[in-house]
Amino acid sequence: MTDKIKVAIVGSKFAADFHADSYSRNAEVVMTAVAAIDNLEPFSARWNIPRTYSDYRKMFASEKLDLVSVCAPNFLHHDVVIAAAEAGINVFCEKPLATTVEDARAMLQVCREAGVKLFYGEDWCFSPPLKRALEIVAEGALGQVLYVKAKECHNGTHSPFARDKKTCGGGSLIHLAIHPIGWVLHLLGDSGRNKVVEVFARCNDGLENNYVHKQNSGEDFALAIMKFADGQHALIEGNYITVGGMDDKVEIYGSEGNIKVDLTLGSCVNVYSRPGYKYALEKADNTTGWTRPAVDEFLNLGYVDELAYAVDCIIADRQPMYGCSPELGLACVEIISAMYASHASGAVVRGQWG
Ligand SMILES: NC(=O)c1ccc[n+]([C@@H]2O[C@H](COP(=O)([O-])OP(=O)(O)OC[C@H]3O[C@@H](n4cnc5c(N)ncnc54)[C@H](O)[C@@H]3O)[C@@H](O)[C@H]2O)c1
Repeated sequence: MTDKIKVAIVGSKFAADFHADSYSRNAEVVMTAVAAIDNLEPFSARWNIPRTYSDYRKMFASEKLDLVSVCAPNFLHHDVVIAAAEAGINVFCEKPLATTVEDARAMLQVCREAGVKLFYGEDWCFSPPLKRALEIVAEGALGQVLYVKAKECHNGTHSPFARDKKTCGGGSLIHLAIHPIGWVLHLLGDSGRNKVVEVFARCNDGLENNYVHKQNSGEDFALAIMKFADGQHALIEGNYITVGGMDDKVEIYGSEGNIKVDLTLGSCVNVYSRPGYKYALEKADNTTGWTRPAVDEFLNLGYVDELAYAVDCIIADRQPMYGCSPELGLACVEIISAMYASHASGAVVRGQWG
């Protein structure tokens, strides 16, 4: 027991749940504490976590931790990561790394100076179907990759923090499209060598300018183009106007072939039900008629393996690969910031990101 990696979680709701589920599957881990401002008792009881805190700083001071998962709202990532680093604790930070480029840069610097590992959670880099697609690309089956289309879309966020631009950092671009952006960097970025050199984006402007979510101060629709130094293009979508369940799709086009991955709606289980059943997939609003329920959604989306990977890095004292690194997290925040600038100006924004 004492040799196990001691883990705590900041946050007690949606993301905290898939972190706790993933850790509970890992024989190397013991979850010792959780800090949040609500839902502490049901969450700790459900996952058998012995100690709860209403203040994450007190938790960091009181617990002897090897790793903390940051599953708090976006605007808190900076403060929580820095407090953890100053307490000498390795950190796994949910997306986005931060809500501003300055905060993200400061997080990298403080973690580096404190000598703690900072993991950035882009779960798509660990999703088994997407890993299989990358293996096939690496074998050369597609020839030269030329163009990628990737999206995460659904019918609206469950989290009040994500509906407010101030606590989210934006709308569906930073909250959803960050997954395809991070994953396309993982696919094409060659660990930071092949930089993104141009971006162009169109978004809604929030509130009454949104298509559907008039209460959200952030956009409910975002489309963006990324161009890489080696010439490839990516078309990225993140929106809250897609009903019928979370729609995560990837298409990779090469000179000799292409790959299409339906991460969420493409289950091999087909159900027809008149009364319906408990749960089909994230953000699906009904389970009657024909449905295709997810099979082990947390594994399929990559959560289980990303956290197992971080635990392995701590055990082996290894820095994370690019797809789980703070450099990837920073690049995503920089690119998204350039995309918001492109939307605001209506122009292509040029730079060097990745
Ligand atoms: N990788 C993914 O696919 C994915 C999916 C969902 C959410 N996320 C990320 O996870 C994070 C949390 O999102 P969520 O959907 O769980 O949000 P949520 O609204 O469901 O939960 C927010 C949690 O933060 C806690 N919290 C708020 N203020 C706090 C504070 N001052 N100190 C400690 N805890 C505090 C709340 O108690 C709550 O438990 C976000 O950054 C989000 O982007 C990632």
